[in-house]
Amino acid sequence: MSQFDTAPAKTGDTFVRHNPKYLNMFYGTKDVTPLWVADMDLPIAAPITQALQHVTDRAQYAYEFNSEGVFDAITGWFKRRHALTLDPANFVQFPGVLTALSLLVRELTQPDEGVLIQLPAYHQFQKLVTSAGRRVVPSPLKSTNGTYTMDYDDLEAKLRQPDVTAMILCNPHNPTGRVWTKVELEQVVTIANRHNVTIVSDEVHADILLSGHPFTSLSSIDGGRHVSLIGSPAKTFGMHSISDGYLYTANQALLKTMKDLVDSMYLGHGNAFTTHATIAAFEHGDAWLDEFLTYLEGTVDWVDHFLKTKLPGVRMTPAEGTYQIWLDCSATGLDAETLKRSLGTAGFGATPGTWFDATAHQFIRVNLAAPRDEIKSAFKRFKDVLDQEILKDVRQNRQIPAKENQGCC
Ligand SMILES: Cc1ncc(COP(=O)(O)O)c(C=O)c1O
Repeated sequence: MSQFDTAPAKTGDTFVRHNPKYLNMFYGTKDVTPLWVADMDLPIAAPITQALQHVTDRAQYAYEFNSEGVFDAITGWFKRRHALTLDPANFVQFPGVLTALSLLVRELTQPDEGVLIQLPAYHQFQKLVTSAGRRVVPSPLKSTNGTYTMDYDDLEAKLRQPDVTAMILCNPHNPTGRVWTKVELEQVVTIANRHNVTIVSDEVHADILLSGHPFTSLSSIDGGRHVSLIGSPAKTFGMHSISDGYLYTANQALLKTMKDLVDSMYLGHGNAFTTHATIAAFEHGDAWLDEFLTYLEGTVDWVDHFLKTKLPGVRMTPAEGTYQIWLDCSATGLDAETLKRSLGTAGFGATPGTWFDATAHQFIRVNLAAPRDEIKSAFKRFKDVLDQEILKDVRQNRQIPAKENQGCC
């Protein structure tokens, strides 16, 4: 029995993931196992809650800033978990990762310039680029037998364009779950350097790694113009609504620019809750995370086996990192509309692939950060509904065989 076998008691419908309004909107019913929003439906690490209780126990909410404490805790974490030596002076604090990315895009590029995004991509990337008045330059990842790799020829062709000045990289990659290797990252850095493109590396999923897949931060690769290690404790520790974002760069000119920018907007200090919770997580969260990763691995293995043996029309992209899995349903032969309807009928609250790539009609992303039994029963329901749909499809095709229906002339 694991602590993760039981979800925390739901105390209301205001969590986005469980909100009936959204569930009805996306799945046509509120009776859904919500496996969509990328947060956790699991008990979080006790030191985090203790730190938050410490803040409320004082019953005092005076000004309190401790960015240095946060940066020291993050530095210690990356040294222990990823053997990465960072200088605490090279961090800038932000309210969240998306704030950091949005401000970087505005700072590093000019209006109408192109920002390259590899597709499929976390859907907010496109929004933050276009809402800054910049152009999204898509570069599709290559899929070979379900494994995604970067298309270096396409990257070269797109980054060569003089008005493409930045690229957002996501490592580990949401939604495909790829953890980019050092060799792959070196190749991107070489191409970007050749064309004076700055890489902004979103590494918020850095700690969610399945065995055999070490994380390489872009900050460990020499010679780039990149800003890397943009992250927060949100994904690692299930701290989505009390999260502290940060960026790390050894580029001193850019560091100063970003520090001055957040200072001018009074964004760079977090609050008592985010500060105490973040320090507690990074200083005392190791054991909890190790247990969670073992649990996640067990869930991924179960899903992999279930799909291969019971639902061979649905193929899982090899899972390397993040707690999202990316499923290709095209071999079921069902059209996108039927697939969408099936999700609702099965109460299977996956995220449609089209959120990440407008052409990914037959893909879904499934969040596995929930008790394994909930995942198992959701997949079993999904299989039953898909089986019925596939059977219906086969029967319909048999009833009106194309040739017989052509008549005599
Ligand atoms: C790759 C990636 N970046 C950023 C975020 C959101 O970060 P934040 O909530 O800190 O803005 C997410 C959330 O799912 C994500 O997957």
